[in-house]
Amino acid sequence: MRANKLDGYLGFTTFGESHGPAMGLVIEDVKPGISFPYDEIKTALFARKGGKNFTATSRNEEDKFEVLSGVFQGKTTGMPICIVIFNKNHQSKDYENIANIFRPGHADFSYFKKFKIYDYRGGGRSSGRETISRVAASEMVNHLLKGIELIAYPIRIGKFIPNKISYSFLKTNYLKWGDENNYDELIRYLEKIKAEKDSVGSIIRFEIRNVPSGLGDPVFEKLEANIAKAILSIGSVKGIQFGAGFSLGKMKGSEANDEIKDGKFLTNNNGGILGGISTGQTIVFDFVSKPVPSIGKVQNTIDIEGENREIKITGRHDLVLTSRIIPVAIAMIKLVLSDAISYQKLIKNEKNTLNDFREQLEKIDEDILIAIARRNEISKQIGKFKKENKIGIVDSKRETEILNLLKNKALNLKINPKIISNIWKEIFEESKRQQ
Ligand SMILES: Cc1cc2nc3c(=O)[nH]c(=O)nc-3n(C[C@H](O)[C@H](O)[C@H](O)COP(=O)(O)O)c2cc1C
Repeated sequence: MRANKLDGYLGFTTFGESHGPAMGLVIEDVKPGISFPYDEIKTALFARKGGKNFTATSRNEEDKFEVLSGVFQGKTTGMPICIVIFNKNHQSKDYENIANIFRPGHADFSYFKKFKIYDYRGGGRSSGRETISRVAASEMVNHLLKGIELIAYPIRIGKFIPNKISYSFLKTNYLKWGDENNYDELIRYLEKIKAEKDSVGSIIRFEIRNVPSGLGDPVFEKLEANIAKAILSIGSVKGIQFGAGFSLGKMKGSEANDEIKDGKFLTNNNGGILGGISTGQTIVFDFVSKPVPSIGKVQNTIDIEGENREIKITGRHDLVLTSRIIPVAIAMIKLVLSDAISYQKLIKNEKNTLNDFREQLEKIDEDILIAIARRNEISKQIGKFKKENKIGIVDSKRETEILNLLKNKALNLKINPKIISNIWKEIFEESKRQQ
């Protein structure tokens, strides 16, 4: 399923279920000769890890990763890099009593509706543990992000809001809470929610500082759109807003517009992005992470037969996702920014070394390969259709028609039609083999 592959400057495929043997990823397009960021990955995985404070799951995974391929003597070789993180501290027995009973708010119901089978142990692929692979991957793009500062902190946890944000204080606590005046009270509130066997949501503010202007592209590659997709792809995130966000709906144009004077913006209601392209101001957005669905309170649900059931979840779960989700959001933003920056370099023609040109060609060659693989898939389906409907496989007339059409198009693109004839001769042969 292509849904497990992220395309972009750093394309990779992730795999693994929460209670399966391992989580991991395969990265195919890393340049050879880059020092592999062992320490950076270790630090990032530690930041995401549970088991470190009472608001996070007590599942205490070591999160030690192993590099199975693509790295030799500490350097990337240009071959596929496979990183695995073995699951060691899972307790599948916690899930036996709720097997086949859908957890309200979790993905069990919709996964079952779609696939007719789901791994109830820890949510399988829909588990928050899935995010570990993204965090590992994101450490491969740090060299592109030099100078850019990523800061994230909650502006709400349940009923609590920080009345001020002290950037020095938020660095001292795992919740990244910015207000020392109500921090202790917040902790007591969270302890109470835990004792009540409940969970709570939070809203995280994200600031991207020292970001260059010009990142993001019209029209489907708008920076906001790509950030939103990246953040919304994280489990539990249900909303995102940029700059003044939904408050813009209450404002007049004269209040909302970010006026410019003496070369400087006077406000940042647009969150540092205009027309999908960064302005050079700090990019600011907020996202909401819903309350952790698995709670110990009795709730109504149904089982896979559709029978009414009551459920009380006893496994080890996060209480609020703040400390767990911030490192994941940082990872996703690193990936989005590295895409935008590498594309911006192309526009500015900064990529002019032989290696950079070769890298671009390699990407194009890979796209061609993917297109051929897709063509083969469709050929197989056509073959099946033809057999079912007793239609002959070879259709020389159609081949000639396609070839003539392509040759005409090739002429318009200033491509020698002879090349097209040669390539498509092979493609037609392959298509017949697939059928
Ligand atoms: C880092 C992280 C940890 C999570 N931990 C838990 C957890 O312990 N228990 C739980 O029920 N959901 C947890 N979730 C949330 C679920 O993965 C998520 O709610 C579920 O997949 C349903 O998807 P949705 O909320 O995006 O609709 C976690 C999510 C993340 C990103």
